[in-house]
Order: sequence, then C-alpha cells, then structure tokens
Amino acid sequence: MLQNDLLLRALKGEKLSRPPVWMMRQAGRYLPSFRKLKEKYDFFTRCRTPELVAEITCMPVHQIGVDAAILFSDILVVPQAMGLDFQMKENEGPFLEYPIRSIEQADRVKCPQVQEELSYVFEGIRLSKQALKNRVPLIGFAGAPWTIFCYAVEGRGSKTFNSVKAFGFSQPAAAHRLLEKITQTTIAYLLKKVESGADVIQIFDSWGGVLSPQDYELFSWRYTQKIVESLCPYAPVIVFAKGCWHALSRMSESGVSALGLDWTVPADKARNFVGALTLQGNLDPVQLLAPISQVKEKTLRMLREFDSQSYIANLGHGILPETPVENAQAFVEVIKEYR
Ligand code: CP3
Repeated sequence: MLQNDLLLRALKGEKLSRPPVWMMRQAGRYLPSFRKLKEKYDFFTRCRTPELVAEITCMPVHQIGVDAAILFSDILVVPQAMGLDFQMKENEGPFLEYPIRSIEQADRVKCPQVQEELSYVFEGIRLSKQALKNRVPLIGFAGAPWTIFCYAVEGRGSKTFNSVKAFGFSQPAAAHRLLEKITQTTIAYLLKKVESGADVIQIFDSWGGVLSPQDYELFSWRYTQKIVESLCPYAPVIVFAKGCWHALSRMSESGVSALGLDWTVPADKARNFVGALTLQGNLDPVQLLAPISQVKEKTLRMLREFDSQSYIANLGHGILPETPVENAQAFVEVIKEYR
C-alpha cells in the first residue's frame, strides 16, 4: 500500500483536503545532484542504467517533497528502439542524422520487441519502485505519436515543425504509416511499463499545438486515443497536449483519468470543457524564476482558481533548468499547506 496515494485519489475524482502536486520534468537539470551525475555520464547512459534511473527518479521526492515520482527517462527511447539513432547534443537537444523524409524510409522503421529493446526501462521501473519504498506513486510516460513523429521527421527540435507538417500534408500515406507504427510500439511499451510497476501513465503531446484543430484530430488525437483506450483498463492515463485547449472536450470522453493544461487556459474555461474530469496544471514554469514571495502568490492564485476536487497541481509545462531549487520548493510547499 502506498503511504501517499493523493495522486491516485485525485485521478479518481475523490474529494481531498488538498490537491497532490508534482512537476513536469521534475527529475531534470535544475537539481544540483542531477548536474553532478551529468559530469560523469552522458544523457542516454543515464537513461540506460537502471541504478541511475532509480537514483534520479527519487531525487525530487526526497529533495522537493512532491507527491509523485516520474520515471527518469526520455520520450526518445521509443524511436531509438525503432531503429532511429537519436543523439542528445549538449545545449542543442535531440539530433537524428538521417531523419525520415520518404515512404521508403518510413517503411524501414521497425516495430521492435519492446521487452528486449527497452528492458533497461522496465528494470529502471522495478528499481525505482524499490527505492521509493511505497512513499509515493510512480508515473511512467511516453510521447504522443505526433510528438515523436515531429522529432523523427525534423531530426531535431523546432519551434514550428513546418517541414514535419509539410511532410504530413503532402505525403499523408507515409505519415500515417509511421504514426501507426509509433502508436503500436508505444502501446506495447506502456503496457509493459504498467506491468513493471508504473502506477500512472502520462502521455506528453508537446507539439500537438502546432496543428490546427482539424489536423490535430487527424494526425495526433486519433493515435493518442488508441493509446488511451488500450491503457486505461490497466492504469489511470493523463494526457498533456500543449496548446490543444480546443480538444479538451473531445479528449475528456476517451477514457483518460485526467487532462493536463498549459498556462494559456483559464481554469473555469477548462472546467467547462471537461465537466467533472480531473485537471492538471498549470502555472507558467517561468513564474518559478520570479522572487519567492511572488511564486507563492501565483501558486495560491492557481489553487483558488481550480477546485480542490478533481485537481492535480502542476506546472503548465516542464520546469526550466535555471529554476532555483528554493523556488521549486516554495511552489510545492504552498500546495502542501493549502486547505
Ligand atoms: O522529470 C523528468 O525529467 C523525467 C524525465 C523526462 C525527460 N524528458 C528527461 C530529460 C521526461 C518526462 C522527458 C520528456 C520529454 N523529452 C519531452 C516531453 C515533455 C516536454 O518537455 O515537452 C520531450 C519533448 C523530450 C525530448 C527532449 N529531451 C528534448 C527536447 C530535450 C532537450 C531539451 C531539454 O529539455 O533539456 C531532452 C533532454 C532531456 N530529457 C533532459 C532531461 C533531464 C536534459 C538533458 C540532460 O540532462 O543532459
């Protein structure tokens, strides 16, 4: 039994004395103890070493006091297992030397046996669960197929992913073939994550917001929905689709347990879109760079705007690497003291 099951109860829509809190990307670079490990091991070595995964996964639980752990890993381990050789370039981010630009290339992408290719992730989950000693639930995650597709076709980050969209619009058959393969691989991967001990699954659609509402439905939601439907009988699923407020209502009917919000959506509008479904978010992560008194004030304001029922406190996107640890702690403290 978990000592702190606030997150699981919030995902069921239970009325709680205060909302649970965790932060997207909380196991990341703002923690000095994480930066120390970075001097010794490169990024994907950290992801592939289960002992390091467990150590990093626990850091924010011990140091910041969040109500849930999120597995230290990356959304790009899935396309790597499919044969796309992503590197992580210092100060630049993901890089793929030969991005997918044709139907022939899309056809060569494999659907791997996840159990073998990604065994290090599942072992990382088992070790993380042991290390957490039932203190808090463990969140497993994957990228939405569209977001993975963005990196696979662009080969690196982008603000607009114009060439990815152009590929999708002009070669839809190739795009859909690749999206379908990513979807099937992600379903197998997430089912195995749950089997290995993940208590909750979050799907990150970081780039859903570059699409129009119609194209979001066609190229993104259609695939994410398949993942939700396959996973929701086995674990609660949270979908965070950045910039996709227009789809909240539609997404709320899919079997998800909660929907994540970025900071551009007002609480009352989001509530109108989803009814009683649990919402998660949505403080602008840049607010954590302001003086602590202001961090506290903005966090309190967010708490008052959302109901304490059916709500998980979080940021509206990943915590920034330059965030002072004390500011992250202040954000979490205000929520834990809230009644
Ligand atoms: O809390 C956690 O940090 C859990 C693990 C986690 C990472 N990436 C570790 C990471 C999670 C949940 C992710 C998700 C992820 N990865 C997303 C979706 C969430 C989002 O922020 O939109 C995306 C788009 C990626 C792809 C990715 N990985 C990018 C674009 C980058 C470079 C930019 C950056 O954020 O640093 C990464 C690298 C990465 N993933 C780091 C970490 C801790 C930093 C690199 C390092 O430590 O050397």
